[in-house]
Amino acid sequence: MQIDIITLFPAMFDGVFSQSILKRAQDKGHLQINIHNLRDYSLSKHKSVDDYAFSGGAGMVMQIEPVDNCLEHLKQKTHFDEIIYTAPDGEPFSQPLANELSLKGNICILCGHYKGVDERIRQHLVTREISIGDYVLSGGELAAMVITDALARLIPGVLNDEQSALSDSFQDNLVAPPVYTRPADYKGWKVPDILLSGNQAKIEQWQYEQALERTKQRRPYLLSE
Ligand code: ADE
Repeated sequence: MQIDIITLFPAMFDGVFSQSILKRAQDKGHLQINIHNLRDYSLSKHKSVDDYAFSGGAGMVMQIEPVDNCLEHLKQKTHFDEIIYTAPDGEPFSQPLANELSLKGNICILCGHYKGVDERIRQHLVTREISIGDYVLSGGELAAMVITDALARLIPGVLNDEQSALSDSFQDNLVAPPVYTRPADYKGWKVPDILLSGNQAKIEQWQYEQALERTKQRRPYLLSE
């Protein structure tokens, strides 16, 4: 899978993309991430990419020309299955949406900034708009990282134990059951006896019941989907 990210702050991605599972996914060749600095596609001498809103008021708006230029340049090399704009009013990101996107070959993510982007970018240049929650971030970079991470762990071969992505919370519309490790008794806080019983069938039944109970308490709407 290839993910191209268009951003005004390329350095923000350095740490997140060079650690842990995202690093492993790239090292193993399962995921190629390309970061593009939108300023490189500015038409102006001063490399500006934003301007005042025609409506007046506070806040700058990202201009359409640099974004269009950048996309046209990238499209010469890559056919994108989706061009995603990260925005607080986009489609809510979820595990089913992550599953769907993880099956695509090439994705481009445009990170928004300032007061937003010229509406014509949303109307004509992107294929999808995604929000990672009903709150406003300073920019779309963190959202792009969240989306990339959620997709990477679903690519076959990225996780050592193939099963572990399938047993994540939200797969099968259930949150994950609790897990424990040694010591079995810490300050009198004990691991449930069933987990020490060695009876795998009973343990799995217990895990299912716990997942169901947690889902009822924490995400009841998942059970009616
Ligand atoms: N940009 C700013 N806030 C955002 C959010 N909640 N989701 C996606 N992109 C954003």
